[in-house]
Parts: sequence; C-alpha cells; structure tokens
Amino acid sequence: MEPHALNLKKIVAEKAVDDYVKDGMTVGLGTGSTSEYAVRRVGELLKSGFNLRCVATSRRTEDLARDCGIGISDIDDVSRIDVTIDGADEVDPNKQLIKGLGGALLREKIVAAASLTEVIVVDESKIVEKLGVKTPVPVEVVPFGHKKTAYALEKQGCEAVLRMCGDDPFVTDAGNYIYDCRFKSIESPFFLESRIDIIPGVVENGLFLNTADIILVSHPDGTVTKIE
Ligand code: A5P
Repeated sequence: MEPHALNLKKIVAEKAVDDYVKDGMTVGLGTGSTSEYAVRRVGELLKSGFNLRCVATSRRTEDLARDCGIGISDIDDVSRIDVTIDGADEVDPNKQLIKGLGGALLREKIVAAASLTEVIVVDESKIVEKLGVKTPVPVEVVPFGHKKTAYALEKQGCEAVLRMCGDDPFVTDAGNYIYDCRFKSIESPFFLESRIDIIPGVVENGLFLNTADIILVSHPDGTVTKIE
C-alpha cells in the first residue's frame, strides 16, 4: 500500500486503544471521525473477552458503541474513568487543544475532567504553532438570547458564526447552540478562556487547556509519535 493511502485516523486511534486500554478498565469514548476507530477497536476487545465499562462523550458515540456491541454506562454510575481516547481539531506545542468541531465539546470536557488519563489522537494535520490559526473556537451557548451572547463573544475579538444544520441552528446533545468563533490571533488561550467563560449565556468553550495527558500523532509514513 502506498503511504498516501494509509488511514492515519485509524492507525493512531487503534494504537491508542492497544497501548492504553487494559482489561478491567472504565473507558471514555470520544467523538469524531478519529475516535470512531477507537470505539470500533474497543468493541473488538470486548468480543475478544475483555471486561470493560464504557462511557460516551455524545449520543452519536453512544449509537456507534451500541452498534459495536458496547454497553454504555451513565457517567455518574462509574466511580472513575481510567482512560479516555478522544480526537481534537488543533494541538499546539504546549499540548493545548481546540475541540468541538464535532459539536460534542460539553460532554467531552466533562468526561475529560473525570478521566485519570486523557489520550488525544490526531493525525499531523492537526498540529499547529498557535491555537486558532486553522479552526474557530466553538462556544456552546444557551438558545435564550444567543444573539446577545454572540455580540459579547465578538467583543473579545472574533467573528462569531452560528453553526447551522440546514436551515436551522445546530442543536447540541444538551439542547444548546454553538457559535464558531474565529479569532485573528489567540495570544493567550488561558486569558481568552477566562474572558469567554464569564459571558452570560456561555455554557462551555472549545479551548481544552491542560486537559491532554498524552497526545498520539500519526504521520503520513504510518508512524505514530507520542507527546507527553
Ligand atoms: C467533537 O466535538 C470534536 O471535539 C472532535 O473530537 C474533533 O472535532 C475531532 O474530530 P475528527 O477526529 O473527526 O477530526
């Protein structure tokens, strides 16, 4: 197979499962096209006899998990999450992330915060010198007064675009809207996060700061490197 034909999402996601998921663990299942391969691999482990409990970061992942024969536990019914494997939209040199282009940022952040180890799986196209250079920062907001919330977001130096699904706003698993906030430049992700979080109407933001414990990155030649 030619290197360019390698499935870099599959390679990195399956390596994460093989390296970090051990028999008896409780596993957080991420959301997105890369995490999907991890979910399928977890399904294979269960079929091979592993005893695992799993929690999901979205309804979409819950559905996929069930298709793969994986039972999903309520996050509040598990005492701990040993490891979560999730994707990301951007990764900077300090292991800071932007997540949420898949719309699952709220649950993803809750699951990440409850996980002993958060493993992020990306191909090298997600690596950036500075957060925000390629992707907007998704911000989940309550529908009530969302245009007022967007106005307050734009005062932080971005263009805030309401995410749509056809003719209607995209609605998250929690019943909220998402504004994709494109900043000209994010000088301090921590300062920006603090500014976003105090805006009334904001539920969660897609800056995942000091969240990743391990980042696995797949490269076009099929190798996977680890940042920790
Ligand atoms: C879901 O809300 C996101 O945070 C995803 O984890 C992220 O968008 C990565 O998705 P892909 O693996 O599909 O690029």
